[in-house]
Amino acid sequence: MLSAKVRRSQATYFTPPAVADATVDLAIEVGFDLGRDDVLDPAAGGAAFLSTLAGRMSAADLQPEHVAYRLNGIEIDEGLAILSRRLIAERLGAPLPRDVIVAGDALRTPILASYGLVIANPPYGRVSLDDVTGSNWEDISHSGHINKYALFAELSFRAAKPRGLVVLVIPSSFRAGPLYDRMRAFIRSHGEVLAVGSISGRDGVFLDVAQDISVLVARKGAPHQAGSRVRFPVIGPLLTAAPAIEQTLPVEPGEAWPLPTTDHEAVGGATLADYGVTARAGYFVWNREKARLLATPGQDRAYPLVWAKNVQAGKLCSPSGKKGDVVDFVSFPADSTAIVKGAAAVMQRTTNDKQPRRLIAAMVDPAVIERWGGFVTENHTIVLTGEDPDRLALAVALINTDPVDMRYRRVSGTASVSVTLLRQIDLPRPADFAAALAASDGDAETAATAAYRRADALVEG
Ligand SMILES: C[S@@+](CC[C@H](N)C(=O)[O-])C[C@H]1O[C@@H](n2cnc3c(N)ncnc32)[C@H](O)[C@@H]1O
Repeated sequence: MLSAKVRRSQATYFTPPAVADATVDLAIEVGFDLGRDDVLDPAAGGAAFLSTLAGRMSAADLQPEHVAYRLNGIEIDEGLAILSRRLIAERLGAPLPRDVIVAGDALRTPILASYGLVIANPPYGRVSLDDVTGSNWEDISHSGHINKYALFAELSFRAAKPRGLVVLVIPSSFRAGPLYDRMRAFIRSHGEVLAVGSISGRDGVFLDVAQDISVLVARKGAPHQAGSRVRFPVIGPLLTAAPAIEQTLPVEPGEAWPLPTTDHEAVGGATLADYGVTARAGYFVWNREKARLLATPGQDRAYPLVWAKNVQAGKLCSPSGKKGDVVDFVSFPADSTAIVKGAAAVMQRTTNDKQPRRLIAAMVDPAVIERWGGFVTENHTIVLTGEDPDRLALAVALINTDPVDMRYRRVSGTASVSVTLLRQIDLPRPADFAAALAASDGDAETAATAAYRRADALVEG
């Protein structure tokens, strides 16, 4: 019933019933007491959690009146607050004796640390420092990178009583995003991380949402102990009978939390740097620097522009403009660092749900450099450069394989490719991959798997 515009601005993406049910189950498994604990959902929306809880409490023969005093929500959208109250009343089978859902801004509402469970699928989206009140954000975010969901996470830990549970359905970027190091450290220092669930079958789970989603379950209190095991269950419409895998979090508080592997994953022991390859984000933001975008070549200091869509795995990349074959040119001083003048490859920096791979790389046709002396790439790309073109091509062949893509997905939770994570991704050593490639007649998929296994066997041996 909401317009796409309102939905986007308030980040109103409702939790599907199967996910809400599974999330409530997780809370119960780690000790939430349906018969006693007070609950807060500070972004109550369509009451996905509160109405599910009302239904469970009703089924447990709890008095509707008592339940209505234990369930609490805050929702910024007045209409949704009304809808939520109705839904909860319906699940309880009785009119509500009080306003279970308060209409208001949770981030500006004083909240006491009194809840046995704070559960939310909070709004997501960047906010500027000007729109943030108070100074609590400092504990969980970097000043230039404040996301609403991090603010709600801070609020949730604040609102839980000592040993209360915090259960959040949030973008997986918090697990691995380099700029979420503060949030990871905050969570670990404010309690014990009990589970990090992944939502399976992302397609269509959340209307309009192109993010991987996780479910964080933590108990407020003493900081997370280094050796404590954390469950990593898979949650969602595609239910799996497989038991959740357990592993410890990394030692450093801010370090990324990778997903566990489903079976033993071989460790290659190398990174892109071992291939002599440097990765950096594409430079040119066309809609901010339209003046540089020239209609015709031949103008002084005009360099061809490589767009993300020019990158196709397994093909040489050549610049080609938005309108078919015509190449777009941009003007830069000849000594600008924006211009790539040597052997290079380009990667897509954002992929969508329809693309089977996150990592898509292509060598740039050497003829591009020969003809125009260099090229510039747009900001939706990542540029890979290296002194040795053969080693660069070797790295590109490797990046385009399933084993590398899978390892990348395990650490990254978002559709955009992070340059930092790319630099850190575990790869087989160049000599191992080159040998495996020769032995497999150039079949990079087979060679990548073999090279990882070889490196791992050497480490274990
Ligand atoms: C991602 S939705 C999820 C809602 C709910 N958990 C559900 O699944 O039905 C987030 C909700 O937070 C609400 N919201 C956004 N900013 C808010 C704020 N500052 N205070 C309270 N609610 C807010 C939105 O209107 C939206 O309903």
